[in-house]
Amino acid sequence: MEKFVVNGGKPLNGEVKISGAKNAAVAIIPAVILCDEPCQIENIPNISDVTLISKILQQMGAKVKRINKSTLYIDPTHIHSSSATSELVMGMRASYYLLGALLGKYGNARVALPGGCNFGVRPIDQHLKGFEALGAETRLVDGAIIEATCGEEGLVGTHIYLDVVSVGATMNIMLAASRAKGLTVIENAAKEPHIVDLANFLNSMGADVRGAGTDVIKIRGVSAMHGITYSIIPDQIEAGTYMCAAAATRGKITITNITPKHLESISAKFREMGVKITEYDEALIFDATVKPLKRVNIKTMPHPGFPTDCQPQFTALLVSVPGTSIVNENVWDNRYQYISELMRMGAHISVEGRLAIIEGGTPLTAAPVRATDLRAGAAMIVAALQVKGTTEISSIQYIERGYEDVVEKFRALGADIKKVYYSGDSEEELRA
Ligand code: EPU
Repeated sequence: MEKFVVNGGKPLNGEVKISGAKNAAVAIIPAVILCDEPCQIENIPNISDVTLISKILQQMGAKVKRINKSTLYIDPTHIHSSSATSELVMGMRASYYLLGALLGKYGNARVALPGGCNFGVRPIDQHLKGFEALGAETRLVDGAIIEATCGEEGLVGTHIYLDVVSVGATMNIMLAASRAKGLTVIENAAKEPHIVDLANFLNSMGADVRGAGTDVIKIRGVSAMHGITYSIIPDQIEAGTYMCAAAATRGKITITNITPKHLESISAKFREMGVKITEYDEALIFDATVKPLKRVNIKTMPHPGFPTDCQPQFTALLVSVPGTSIVNENVWDNRYQYISELMRMGAHISVEGRLAIIEGGTPLTAAPVRATDLRAGAAMIVAALQVKGTTEISSIQYIERGYEDVVEKFRALGADIKKVYYSGDSEEELRA
């Protein structure tokens, strides 16, 4: 087993280069199934979720090769199955994109129910509603596999109104509809940057998707798609995480390979707190040393609101800021499991339904803590970096699902963090 050992209490300082966006990559990789030729995808993060989805495509017959650390070559022309039911599929939430891609390409799909981070009920009813509106029949087999099939007609474009703003349902319906007959209109669509990225990717392959980034997306189905080379967008949540860590340690860092526009809601909160942010085309300087930070409230919302995927990291930062801050988690029902871990470190937080009330300003103390999910794990790092003492973070496999080279990147910013292997009472350093 592996854990992170962090000796905190020092301001972060230096430069960090952000990797490609996880939540764009895990949709764009299966989207290649729709294509009739090989594709090359650049700026792919080297994270375990990408490795997993690549292996799943390989099991289905696709050729997937890492040309270099951030470029994947995917040849979907040898896919021999529209069924993806292995344990690997159950291991990741985003495997639901296989449903839309396989259904769009082959008119049928058999995919195991997704796993991934566990914070409350994570239904996919809106995905299924979309597929059914396009003419597919869906059924749950043995409580574990979703089957979707359409008759000889194939998928036929239609109007779909999403009852909840769902990133996954919006992207999944885009995938299926891009090779359906005629026009599909998705109303009340999600507007995240990765939705625009998926639309750009599909359009580069020859699809006709318009309106991505607004709440009405129109997809006119096409009968063929050609191979392309495409570079995915930078990860706004990874950037937000480094911003939280820099603020929590009152540091000053430069963040490169980003799109500052995608970070607007996060940057606005930091400015409200007193952080100085200087933006460039693809970089920013984040300076939390200019004045004492002020408490703030945040409410998570679908894009362009404050992203839920930055909520745990931001809460871990707010613990260090004197005064009462209130966090309102408005996207997921139960994304506060990590708070009991912060409380083990001495944080004063109470949770009332969707609200977390943080009495900040009391320094945290060292304690062994656990990453309860991906962003919760990132929050543990933000907390540990504040502590003058040694914090051990276990279950780091969650963190590695979504953060490339997290140890190396934090070390380059001056953090004292290392990954160690442990079994029973022995412990051995794994990587600098
Ligand atoms: N929802 C439904 N029915 C559905 C789909 C969603 O009721 O059919 C509800 C959910 O229960 C939730 C809300 O709608 O309350 C939003 O869910 P959404 O579908 O937008 O989430 P998702 O697509 O499953 C993606 C990201 C998550 C991120 C959310 C919200 C991926 C693989 N995952 O999940 O990312 O929190 O959008 O932005 O893209 C993460 O990266 O840490 C992460 C969890």
